[in-house]
Amino acid sequence: MLTKTNNKKIILGIETSCDETSAAVIEKTDDRVNLLSNIVASSAEIQAKYGGIIPEQAAREQLKSIFPVIQEALNESGVAANEIDAIAVTQGPGLIGSLLVGVETAKTLSLIWNKPLIPVNHLMGHFYANWINLEKQSQPSFPCLGLLVSGGHSDLILLTDHGKYQYLGGTRDDAAGEAFDKTARLLGLPYPGGPQISKIAENGDPKSYKLPKPMAGSKDLDFSFSGLKTAVLYLVQKLTDNGKQKLSQIELGNLAASLEETIVESLVKKTVLAAQTYDIEQIIVAGGVAANKRLRVRLEEAIAQKTSRGKLFIPPPNLCTDNAAYIATAAAFNYQPTDSLVLQANPNLSLSKK
Ligand code: KG4
Ligand code: ZN
Repeated sequence: MLTKTNNKKIILGIETSCDETSAAVIEKTDDRVNLLSNIVASSAEIQAKYGGIIPEQAAREQLKSIFPVIQEALNESGVAANEIDAIAVTQGPGLIGSLLVGVETAKTLSLIWNKPLIPVNHLMGHFYANWINLEKQSQPSFPCLGLLVSGGHSDLILLTDHGKYQYLGGTRDDAAGEAFDKTARLLGLPYPGGPQISKIAENGDPKSYKLPKPMAGSKDLDFSFSGLKTAVLYLVQKLTDNGKQKLSQIELGNLAASLEETIVESLVKKTVLAAQTYDIEQIIVAGGVAANKRLRVRLEEAIAQKTSRGKLFIPPPNLCTDNAAYIATAAAFNYQPTDSLVLQANPNLSLSKK
């Protein structure tokens, strides 16, 4: 049982934008955000079997797991339903069937428990993983530069305050995570490809193969990753004599390392360029690809070398990939309840237009 002061808010977060089903309980005081529980269920085994996410199947799994996951999050946090101050839910973007499971569940709980309901844009939500479990003085402050790198997005955003931001640039085609996932599939690796490529890359030489970096030299803040899968396809065809031979473990390691390096260097280059152009000291990174070890190391190095006072924030890997803790945290800092009866899932929400 938690003792409450006026400045304390306890928020239940719900996240179902893609294949994960997640519920979390956070407690926000004036000085910090405490993560009390964060449960994530995913249909990873099913995806690995089919080589990716099948939207209807993901939603069916989420329908089965949403209430047990919420119950587990409440149990683990030690918070009773009547102690919650608000419910936060991912409104979009994402898969419509998956979003509906979370949004309709949150609306129902908001009505029957009589609690305010706060919708969260999943993309902005990702950034709030950088505010979890930190004292106020060690949290990022504004203005800060946000790099969002997930399965569907690679965006550079200038955040000027909670809820206020400007889109600076982003991918013109595939997202960084998508590039990892699609090339992993070409190499016969299971979904999701990012962690697999990253693991295999540890045994490879990143300089083995030269892969295209289409926008890396341009002065804008955009990325392009779609050429990578074609380049990798041609390379694999050449190395295997059009499928007549198998790739050796050495070739596989070298390919994975070269691919990882190409993606990481493109992301690092434009992030540093954005920080220099807008003279921003604080850089926050978010999204599943932010779990990538090589990206974490290279960003740290490049920001130390190329900016005079740059400070980097990257959440621990388990808070980078989809989870409800950052959804609840985003709602705590952007406390704008909406009418539970009218909220609708919106698969097309973005950060580019505001
Ligand atoms: O943020 P996220 O969990 O879901 C979306 O909102 O899209 O990101 C998932 C993406 C996938 O493309 C996955 O391959 C990638 O993040 N990912 C990684 C790593 N862990 C997850 N990519 C590279 N290295 C990793 N360690
Ligand atoms: Zn995400």
